[in-house]
Amino acid sequence: MKPTNPSTVRSPDSRPRLLITAGPTQEPIDSVRYIGNRSSGRLGVALADRAAARGWSVVLLLGPTARTPSDSRVTLRKFRTTQDLGNLMDETFASCDALVMAAAVADYRPARPASAGKLRRENGPITLQLEPTPDLLARAAAGKRPDQVVVGFALELRAELMDSARSKLRRKGADLLVANPLETMDADDIEAWILDPSGERARTSGAITKSAFADLLLDTIAGEWAARAAHVERPAGAAR
Ligand code: CTP
Repeated sequence: MKPTNPSTVRSPDSRPRLLITAGPTQEPIDSVRYIGNRSSGRLGVALADRAAARGWSVVLLLGPTARTPSDSRVTLRKFRTTQDLGNLMDETFASCDALVMAAAVADYRPARPASAGKLRRENGPITLQLEPTPDLLARAAAGKRPDQVVVGFALELRAELMDSARSKLRRKGADLLVANPLETMDADDIEAWILDPSGERARTSGAITKSAFADLLLDTIAGEWAARAAHVERPAGAAR
């Protein structure tokens, strides 16, 4: 049998090791300009702090945002582009038990490498050719172990929320998906539904603080992860 690398098997603890991605990506056009999504990273940072307060081991991959976790037990790694984030995920995903993909990954990036220096307006109009970014959530879900829990997000117009969220959950192969209305973007509070492939797993009653929602999501992840323990055969040599 192939020797098992202990960092890539299920946590020997009763607390899941969490990998959280949060904040926007920036896809450079030249040395000063970029394409990106609006995102403060607030929910991802709240999740990291609440998980660390439970004694969970937490790695937070954080894009360019002013927010940082306040709990010093959170391991913080910064990224800028989708490519950087993908590389960090490749490095860290195998040694975690649950991934929370809260990052607002840019959907498109310039098809050509960034121009060195600044593009000059005086040179007239430019045309940017954009290519879709790789789907990091779908990639992680496709390569995960059965004991790992992968959580995605869908921020959609309220009128389309449930249909879009369900189709995103299926298309990306996530285990859980947080659906929240676009109308609550940038708000202090969040109204959200947590879906799994068979339907609704949990929901907030109206809008609640992002910190309170973080606790609800962490409880849901802990439950899902524990349920998987019962079904997944432990690899030989993995201590508990
Ligand atoms: N996501 C990702 N990689 C991308 C784009 C999105 O991992 N290139 C993840 C986000 O982190 C989020 C989920 O996918 O957890 C949904 O993001 P969203 O932007 O809504 O999905 P898209 O794939 O961009 O779908 P659409 O074009 O329909 O918005």
